[in-house]
Amino acid sequence: MIAREAVRVLVANWDGSYTVPSRRLYPHQWSWDSAFIAIGNARWSPRRARSELLSLFGAQWRDGRVPHIVFNPSVPDSAYFPGPEFWDVRAPSGSATSGIVQPPVHAIAAWQVHLAEPDTTFLRRLYPRLVAQQHFLRTARRSADGLMAIVHPWESGMDNSPAWDIPLAAVAPGPAGVARRDLTHVSPDERPTDRDYERYAALARAYRDTGYRRAGAFAVEDPLFNAAYGASESALAKIAAACGLDPAPHHAEAARVTAAMVEHLYDDGLFHSRDIDSGILLRSHSAAGLVPLILPDLPREIVNALTGTALDRFEIKRGLLPSFAPGTPEFDPVRYWRGPSWINLTWLVWHGLRHRRPDLAELLAEGMIRAVSTAGFREYFDPFTAEGHGCGDFSWSAALVLDILAQHGLDGVPTSLSQVGEELGSLAESDDVGHHVLA
Ligand code: SER
Repeated sequence: MIAREAVRVLVANWDGSYTVPSRRLYPHQWSWDSAFIAIGNARWSPRRARSELLSLFGAQWRDGRVPHIVFNPSVPDSAYFPGPEFWDVRAPSGSATSGIVQPPVHAIAAWQVHLAEPDTTFLRRLYPRLVAQQHFLRTARRSADGLMAIVHPWESGMDNSPAWDIPLAAVAPGPAGVARRDLTHVSPDERPTDRDYERYAALARAYRDTGYRRAGAFAVEDPLFNAAYGASESALAKIAAACGLDPAPHHAEAARVTAAMVEHLYDDGLFHSRDIDSGILLRSHSAAGLVPLILPDLPREIVNALTGTALDRFEIKRGLLPSFAPGTPEFDPVRYWRGPSWINLTWLVWHGLRHRRPDLAELLAEGMIRAVSTAGFREYFDPFTAEGHGCGDFSWSAALVLDILAQHGLDGVPTSLSQVGEELGSLAESDDVGHHVLA
């Protein structure tokens, strides 16, 4: 049964207060992974879901930034590149972290966790930290368009998307011979190239050398990142109201950023990235351009146009959303973010369509379940054959499918997912004893 298998993956990847995305390929805590994992864990262990988010925010920096990786000190530095020695920075909690961020989907996750098991103490604890996270982005990362900039392709979450081919070409690659660890676990034709990695390392090093303050040769407004920020403001409005606080400033900010995105990033049925230095709209066919569907205030005609694009150019009738539009020269069905389907992107678009186009949401839900049923909880999937690629037992694939099963009531959902967790011997008392300091 698929739900039982999903819980097994999440149990196996649990590290005491948070979940690793993958035991071997990603052996630390990742920022947006934890948000997606919390959404799924809320379906069978709300306590773990809360711990997942609280432990991540335990490593928040004083300026409000939430680092994209929080390193587990008991994992050797050589297990992952770039590790703690490369980033060379610690959070006030003492945890070694990276210095860049990832799409801020955490307030959305916090609200979903609260809906699964209402807990205003948890919300009150997290709210100021979520507010500080957003504040960092809208001050330190604000562009002239009033949008948020990312300064590294890793911050987009879609590292080697063809959307970054042009801005990344302007980055001088660092020295060859980057000590990659990913290729020990996954075939090179499913991962970014060495040339990409030399540029990633050079960019991260340059940012590090400014004390993680000044953007280097890469600064773009990304639609997924900005949509996550805007939808998080809408979620913060609900969280504020549940805590007896004023939701109005969050509603206003969500509306403001939605309008700025429509004005600056939208064109012809899809949202695109904009290069900040040149001001050029980087027209591409990335599925990041559909993610603004998660914005509650998106005008109806834009929702309709995006839905049309999802059907025509992304061929979602098949039930799997490719990360890049098939039929384009850059499309590659197996290489990391250059075409394969990912459960988190599909979940985001499903989330945006749930109330607007339940028929299409149902299609995507069925597609995700079909993919993991045939290929297992792989990291990504060929959008045509649903063959699995990247690592196996990938946490967010398991977590988000649990959420889908719970919401769609599709086949095989146990009456009580928490029972499955107990059967698997996972709800140990040591749940909250992790490597990271809890917030
Ligand atoms: N996603 C990146 C990796 O592949 C970095 O966070 O390691």
